[in-house]
Amino acid sequence: APTQDDPLVKDMGLAEFGRKELTLAEHEMPGLMAARKEFGPSQPFKGMNINGSLHMTIQTGVLIETLAALGAKVRWCSCNIFSTQDHAAAAIAKAGTSTVFAWKGETLPEYWWCTEQMMTVPGADGCDQLVDDGGDATLLIHKGKEFEEKFAKDGSLPDPSSTTNAEFKCILQLLRDSIQVDKTKYTRMAAKCKGVSEEMLRVLGVLGTGCQDFGAVSESAEETTTGVHRLREMAAKGELLFPAINVNDCRFFCFVLVILVFTENRASRNTLLPGKQQQQDCVTKSKFDNVYGCRHSLPDSIMRATDVMIGGKRALVAGYGDVGKGCAFAMRGAGARVLITEIDPICALQACMEGFQVVTLEECVGEVDIFTSATGNFKIITLEHMKKMKNNAIVCNIGHFDNEIAMEDLEKCPGVKVENIKPQVDRFVFPDGHGVIVLASGRLVNLGCATGHPSFVMSCSFTNQVLAQLDILENCTKAKNYKNDVYLLPKKLDEKVAALHLPSLGASMTKLSKEQADYIGVPVEGPFKPASRLK
Ligand code: NAI
Repeated sequence: APTQDDPLVKDMGLAEFGRKELTLAEHEMPGLMAARKEFGPSQPFKGMNINGSLHMTIQTGVLIETLAALGAKVRWCSCNIFSTQDHAAAAIAKAGTSTVFAWKGETLPEYWWCTEQMMTVPGADGCDQLVDDGGDATLLIHKGKEFEEKFAKDGSLPDPSSTTNAEFKCILQLLRDSIQVDKTKYTRMAAKCKGVSEEMLRVLGVLGTGCQDFGAVSESAEETTTGVHRLREMAAKGELLFPAINVNDCRFFCFVLVILVFTENRASRNTLLPGKQQQQDCVTKSKFDNVYGCRHSLPDSIMRATDVMIGGKRALVAGYGDVGKGCAFAMRGAGARVLITEIDPICALQACMEGFQVVTLEECVGEVDIFTSATGNFKIITLEHMKKMKNNAIVCNIGHFDNEIAMEDLEKCPGVKVENIKPQVDRFVFPDGHGVIVLASGRLVNLGCATGHPSFVMSCSFTNQVLAQLDILENCTKAKNYKNDVYLLPKKLDEKVAALHLPSLGASMTKLSKEQADYIGVPVEGPFKPASRLK
């Protein structure tokens, strides 16, 4: 596709509304605003292109404008066909500092077109650094280079008919068209990109297969569920094209931390270690975004989509991990009687101790009013389950891919008719007359039917993104300190980012005395807990 200099959004007329909400969000995102104050004057990203694929929401708008305030030229697209807030996209596009290609309700071909436009920098080979959520942009670069090399070797072009998966078909078609116009576009892009900060590495699982297996991946969704592991495998095999910082595992509040740590002690930037050498999770991520973000946005999205009274209903949450815990408490808070399904006995016992009933889907499927899948696994709510649900049962997914719910089976099921109630709300009617209401086509309900996580939680996450980008700048762009491996931000940033968000909540912290610190064996300034202990 020809490169677009101009942004493409749904309606520029929404820009004024978007700007008002961006201004409100800035107040709720103290980490990002602290980054602007701290790093803005020195313009660390001056002259650089930083491109991103991440839900084009108001909160992301504050991230984009923070990167721009630090000197970057930014191109952006959404990482989900439904998650764009059109007023946010319009406001960012109108400001003129960043180029946006995103609108709510993109088709799959449009989605991949936007992704390619985001990555194609006019007058340059590509971006210097990448922000990615879900790995689609990273995937496209890797696959593009792989197919270009294959074309150079044997003249063969990507074949969209080699896969039944609609999304992979789009990617293959896009790359087929691209190679016919420019045989080395993605190879140059890969060489130009010095590193990626990745919100969610899961989808990168598809990268672990060779070109010839690309089609087969679509038949085997397991391939997409082991992303971090596969990414590390790729790094070990030398297939990863640039270093990746996994912001997901150590992020939310890390941003403010980064600001302080990086400015107070610039050497700390070099303390990042390959992920496998560090803790596997980040408290300010998993215990904040996943729990409190979803606790806020699950009932919000169900109410906006259906206006249904949650109180008194039976609500089932599949998976009692961090997201499931937030969802279960929110549904209980709204007055629902909550049921949990789990495969892990520890999480199941935790659910019991909180007074939730742990069940299998099979034993209660006909009695539940609202189903929420929160597992990150697939094939959780099957066609057989939906056939047995009560009339107008609500089905949604807040986990990861739309394959938590058997959407393809439902859409292809003979005799099933679909009534579109309103955008992102569909009632699938079975031949016996009963229907199930599926939200956001089985994709993330809190992004599709509401506005995702609130600004304050996202401030933590995006502060980490900025820190990661600064880290890539120091260690990948200016120097070559990192290998093509997966890195995490250090544990201490966790506490720092949290600390930076406390003042706006009016919290007063107790100061550890030297005597007390020695007694419990921690430094006075932290970290206060071992990395392995999630608190
Ligand atoms: P987690 O690993 O803490 O929890 C998932 C839980 O699901 C685990 O306890 C696991 O035992 C359980 N599980 C797995 N297979 C199951 C099955 N067949 N039936 C019942 N339970 C099963 O992960 P976390 O942090 O709760 O995240 C879950 C998903 O939510 C991930 O895919 C994550 O990417 C996504 N997520 C979505 C967000 C959103 O805004 N929608 C925000 C944060 C995470």
